[in-house]
Amino acid sequence: MQLQEVLYSQGFGTRRVCAGLIQQGRVQVYPDASTGDPVTVTDAAAEVVAPGLRFTVQGVPWEYHEFAYLMLHKPAGTECSQMPSTYPAIYTLLSAPLRQRPQKGPVQGVQAVGRLDQDTTGLLLLTDDGKFIHRLNSPRHHVPKVYEVTTKHALDARQVQKLLDGVVLDDDPKPVLAAACEAVAEHHLRLTLTEGKYHQVKRMLAAVGNRVEGLHRSQIGSLALPADLAPGQWRWLGAADLEAVGYRAT
Ligand code: URA
Repeated sequence: MQLQEVLYSQGFGTRRVCAGLIQQGRVQVYPDASTGDPVTVTDAAAEVVAPGLRFTVQGVPWEYHEFAYLMLHKPAGTECSQMPSTYPAIYTLLSAPLRQRPQKGPVQGVQAVGRLDQDTTGLLLLTDDGKFIHRLNSPRHHVPKVYEVTTKHALDARQVQKLLDGVVLDDDPKPVLAAACEAVAEHHLRLTLTEGKYHQVKRMLAAVGNRVEGLHRSQIGSLALPADLAPGQWRWLGAADLEAVGYRAT
């Protein structure tokens, strides 16, 4: 692939801007994935092997990814919408190239995989791969999501049992049930769901006579939010992370 095309595909601007960055000597390419100093390349049409390519653009290190697969530690007070109404969008937390990647296929740039409420914190996945979004969101695939719930009222065994047995929400006569549910402390419930209805945790807790005071998603599939990923930070997902959420990129 031409170097200017690599930069364009990764969100560094229009093809013209990318060619300009290269011609002005602002792009350095690592000749080898593991060793060696980066080399300034000024030929915008230089052919490079894109998969695994590491480079810097105006000093910012980057690695080529055909599709972006990311995790974000969503902080409270952010909206998962591209057009937020009250709070800043989670997308403002991503680096500029991730927000400017050109559209590939049906997905319009990097998108959140499902949504968390503005006051919910924790693990959120983002991608521009439509197949990944479909796989993770499909109720058929039952990818479990683990929520740490802080409750207003003390939990009791009856509430836990009701959540496991199923509760009826106002938009569907079919009961929704927790795949797992455990009172970790008097006001701390660990709840595992395999579907993602609107405000599902809050509505399920209300249905058993309690109330959500705080909500944090700690795990998707067997992928846990890393302890060293601070609120507001994001990172790339590796092959093992994708496997942990039940996805094999082809
Ligand atoms: N359930 C909710 O009620 N809110 C979320 O943000 C996620 C699940």
